Amino acid sequence: MAEIRVVVGSTYGNASLIADDCTDQLKRLGHQATLLSNPTYEQVALNPDVILICTATIGQGEVPVNLQPLYDDLSSRQPDFSGVRFGLIALGDSSYETFAEGGKQMNELMHDLGAKPVGQPLFIDSCETPDPDEAAAQWIDQWSVKL
Ligand SMILES: Cc1cc2nc3c(=O)[nH]c(=O)nc-3n(C[C@H](O)[C@H](O)[C@H](O)COP(=O)(O)O)c2cc1C
Repeated sequence: MAEIRVVVGSTYGNASLIADDCTDQLKRLGHQATLLSNPTYEQVALNPDVILICTATIGQGEVPVNLQPLYDDLSSRQPDFSGVRFGLIALGDSSYETFAEGGKQMNELMHDLGAKPVGQPLFIDSCETPDPDEAAAQWIDQWSVKL
């Protein structure tokens, strides 16, 4: 079973709620999962096994404020994540030109650091997904068996 750090990027609470539910679901599936609501570099970058990023987008395609310090620290300190696996749940709204850009930036950063993606990212478009919790739960079911 995997040790999973669930990294949250949220302004208004949607991504936070989904990340909370995903953490509980991963625990029920037998994994060790820790929710990081205000993730710090130390919490995320020291000996990680699996990182699950669950983030919304804010502003004009930006990472939420609570996730920005981690994004900046990872970008500048460039930890070696070649032994790390990761997944991504990105919330957004396709009426913005910068749809889910915060999630896409995190995805690119994890790739740059050498982390290995597990499965495909989940993009939750609030214009098209009436039940984001259900979409995330189904994705976690499939994602967790790949760990
Ligand atoms: C001020 C504001 C700016 C936003 N900017 C974007 C954006 O650039 N791209 C996008 O895909 N969604 C954007 N959104 C939509 C949010 O990402 C979406 O509503 C998400 O579910 C919010 O999650 P949160 O409650 O965890 O913050 C924006 C929402 C607000 C209120």
